[in-house]
Amino acid sequence: MHPDRLPGHPHIAYAGDELFVEMIPLSALAQQYGTPLFAYSKASMLAALAAYQQGFSGRQVQICYAMKANSTLAIIQLFAHAGCGFDVVSLGEMQRVLVAGGLASRIIFSGVGKTRAEMHAALEAGVGCFNVESEAELEVLNEVALNLGLQAPVSIRVNPNVDPQTHPYISTGLKGNKFGIAHEHVVQTYQRAAALPGLKVQGIDCHIGSQITQESPYLDAMDRMLDLVEAIEAAGVPIHHIDMGGGLGIEYQGETPPEAAVLWRKLLAKLDARGFGDRPLMIEPGRSLVGNAGVCVTEVLYLKPGEQKNFCIVDAAMNDLPRPAMYQAYHQIVPLKPRDTTPETWEVVGPICESGDWIGHDRDLSVAQGDLLAVMSAGAYCMSMASNYNTRNRAAEVLVDGSQAHLIRAREGYADQMRQERLIT
Ligand code: LLP
Repeated sequence: MHPDRLPGHPHIAYAGDELFVEMIPLSALAQQYGTPLFAYSKASMLAALAAYQQGFSGRQVQICYAMKANSTLAIIQLFAHAGCGFDVVSLGEMQRVLVAGGLASRIIFSGVGKTRAEMHAALEAGVGCFNVESEAELEVLNEVALNLGLQAPVSIRVNPNVDPQTHPYISTGLKGNKFGIAHEHVVQTYQRAAALPGLKVQGIDCHIGSQITQESPYLDAMDRMLDLVEAIEAAGVPIHHIDMGGGLGIEYQGETPPEAAVLWRKLLAKLDARGFGDRPLMIEPGRSLVGNAGVCVTEVLYLKPGEQKNFCIVDAAMNDLPRPAMYQAYHQIVPLKPRDTTPETWEVVGPICESGDWIGHDRDLSVAQGDLLAVMSAGAYCMSMASNYNTRNRAAEVLVDGSQAHLIRAREGYADQMRQERLIT
């Protein structure tokens, strides 16, 4: 029995009795590389990017992949080759972009807690823009730039106070959030930035949240941003680009987020209508480029039917797939090779010693010990958030391109995990 529908792009689909990524059966990948294993479709990532590019055709837009969603080098390399810039939030992320062949000039550096050392290194590398999140940060960035004899390109992250209608942990553009500068103070902040000799005002940015499935929060945020651009420019500070952040949601379980091209057609129409049609744009999509391009393959270790619950214990856990434990997130779970037997209801859980280590509640599955399952929509915020809790090695990752599979991250080993540790002598 096949599940009715798989989320996302058609590059991960059943053919005959097997689940494939592009032209490779996932069972073959599991056999070759072991489990838990992340497998990604290159075509799916490029199709997701193309949806944005299509929406923007003819416009001056820089797409900066928010690499926190999946920061594996080969994924960065793929997006760099496809012409993307990158949104980074740490020096570590910046180093990854440079190692993977991305251009420093196309990096925007976001985040509320940039250290002086990070600012120094990013200025020396020549990053395209700092998205500054507080007045205190402006002052420090000015000092660091002056010490280097440079001017830091800056954009100020505005908190537009728009409700993105998503999970509270991933909503970032509301008044109570730690991100950005309240829109009431923004004009003053720009005047201060313009007066600081170590800074060069470039743009304005916002990012209102993640896994946004409605278009209205974007349209509202765009209106507030344009109101601010008018006010800032009226106060004498020109704004070169407008950065609308990321946040577009994906389908995990029946959500119907707007398509990137459709959403952007509407946003561009608003820009045009308000007379900002030729203003350069930036966006910072993460999840929507990679989320539905990936799955995590896991083996059923044991079935443990119980009085209240039936447990299906698999070899992937909350260290590999932290989203269910952290956000009560739903990821569809499907068999690699569906069985014809009547499904039963299972709690799909990992081996970690925590009750919070669950991957799916109440899932109807026909499973047997040794079966392989795919946890869907695992391309974003899974591997990049993976940990070594319980001294579990982080999984391997494979990028599938047609009938070719590239191992892009070897499975971690115990020696890798203990390398930085020292016994007391
Ligand atoms: N730009 C900024 C400044 C951000 O903080 C983020 C994500 C993005 C862009 C990309 O947002 P996206 O397009 O991926 O929604 N770990 C959570 C998501 C946290 C998002 C953090 N910021 C999850 O697994 O749902």
